[in-house]
Amino acid sequence: MKFFVDTADIAEIKGLLPTGLVDGVTTNPSLIMKSGRDFREVVAEICDLVDGPVSAEVTALEADKMISEGKSLAGIAENVCVKLPLTMDGITACNALSGEGIKTNVTLCFAANQALLAAKAGATFISPFIGRLDDINIDGMELIREIRMIYDNYDFRTEILAASIRSANHVKDSALFGADVATVPPGVLKGLASHPLTDKGLKAFLDDWAKTGQKII
Ligand code: E4P
Repeated sequence: MKFFVDTADIAEIKGLLPTGLVDGVTTNPSLIMKSGRDFREVVAEICDLVDGPVSAEVTALEADKMISEGKSLAGIAENVCVKLPLTMDGITACNALSGEGIKTNVTLCFAANQALLAAKAGATFISPFIGRLDDINIDGMELIREIRMIYDNYDFRTEILAASIRSANHVKDSALFGADVATVPPGVLKGLASHPLTDKGLKAFLDDWAKTGQKII
């Protein structure tokens, strides 16, 4: 399973790079607003830092304008992945951009039928929003399961990018249900290593080690 980091915060991305866990980055207009940075500038900077796909979202609503914006964003760097909303215009733009070999991430997916359209339009990634479904008491993980089954039934190549992840359990369940990628907020990604028994065990080992009076180097 690949991990993307769901942020436009350069310091957070830089901090995570040495872990080797960052396979890509996703941004959205809200994350760009939160960064306080110029959109094109911050996307270019992230693309320089990370080898994998960096999602940058269009803001137009009509297909022809989305296509123009998408081509412009794709011109920033080779690893830009154009993020398009799951509307009929977004699907039309996805079909056009994918046809030109531009990477696409169809976002704001809340139903399996929507994911089917994105795959047929040649999307590189489909982003089902788990957390926002859970927020309204609909099981987000069930959506991942349905999309996995549909994509496998027809051998669609579109990768399932579990998005709107809020917890370590979301990451674990996405992996269990066969999502190809999880885009994870930095705090949740760091939390994946935490376990109280790891902390307790480590303390006991180090206490005993101190009693030996030895040093490794
Ligand atoms: C990523 O591509 C999405 O934009 C993001 O995961 C949305 O997360 P949120 O529902 O926490 O805003």
